[in-house]
Amino acid sequence: MLIKKPGDIRSSEITAERDYLSRRKFIAAAGVATLGLAGSARLLGALGSATAQEQQNEKPNTWDEITTYNNYYEFGTDKDDPSANSKNFRTRPWTVKVDGLVKKPAEYHFEDLVKPYAEQDRVYRFRCVEAWSMVIPWRGIPLAEMIKRFEPLPSAKFVQFTTIYAPAEMPGQRSDVLQWPYVEGLRMDEAMHPLTLMVTGLYGKTLPNQNGAPLRLIVPWKYGFKGIKAITRISFVEKQPLNTWQIAASNEYGFYANVNPNVDHPRWTQASERRIGQFRRQKTLMFNGYADQVAHMYAGMDLRRNF
Ligand code: MTE
Repeated sequence: MLIKKPGDIRSSEITAERDYLSRRKFIAAAGVATLGLAGSARLLGALGSATAQEQQNEKPNTWDEITTYNNYYEFGTDKDDPSANSKNFRTRPWTVKVDGLVKKPAEYHFEDLVKPYAEQDRVYRFRCVEAWSMVIPWRGIPLAEMIKRFEPLPSAKFVQFTTIYAPAEMPGQRSDVLQWPYVEGLRMDEAMHPLTLMVTGLYGKTLPNQNGAPLRLIVPWKYGFKGIKAITRISFVEKQPLNTWQIAASNEYGFYANVNPNVDHPRWTQASERRIGQFRRQKTLMFNGYADQVAHMYAGMDLRRNF
């Protein structure tokens, strides 16, 4: 995120020609006067304007796309590093420490932590701050259900999540590309929102290592970096915690990280995105298309300052 410039993008990251060709075929079949658009699509990709509803009905990305195009700097900074380098990462036994401002601090075995809940399958849009996106069928447990069990105190205003620190198994943690371990945070109402998911699986199967096994966070209206992987600690705190990308570059990445097409990243536009596997770019929607469900939480806030 910090270190890739457009010139660094490899040909494997650019949509295959056959996708482009089938898009052109579609345009031709639709019989609409889009010659100009189709022409510029060769260079830029046509800018679609799917509504939230249309995006909702989109076909999920493939298993291969979701599991080989990853950001997980503990296993390297290239998109295919996590799938290549995380094969021997051990996710059992696994413990999650719950501490801070809660009535029931505890150290849970992973199995005990997830056992009381029925896992749910949910297809969410996923928007990376790098302006690419996917549609992903996650399996998980609403974070709110877990949090209720810990009985947070009224003084708990934020939740902080911490990734495991295991440099022997995570080669990236032996470099200083980021500050380790990776940390993230949510405001308590964001953590309790019914869309916020503690993810345990993908496509109805166990979560692959490269996607954050055994437990990772997904907050679908925020940029993907809020989705911290391999969580080993959940702390309830009074003050807004820092998050890893904010520590790395606070002028580029903020605490809120709400998907917002009106606030560009200092080095690129956030007004549009490219769906992995498609050629055209499409308009980015406010709160990643989840505005109806989440906008009320930010009423009255200056979202340019609180980016
Ligand atoms: N969690 C950890 N521990 N380390 C990371 O480098 N990358 C983040 C997030 N969670 C990251 C992480 C970023 S930048 C993104 S976009 C998503 O994971 C990518 O999730 P995915 O690989 O499952 O698509």
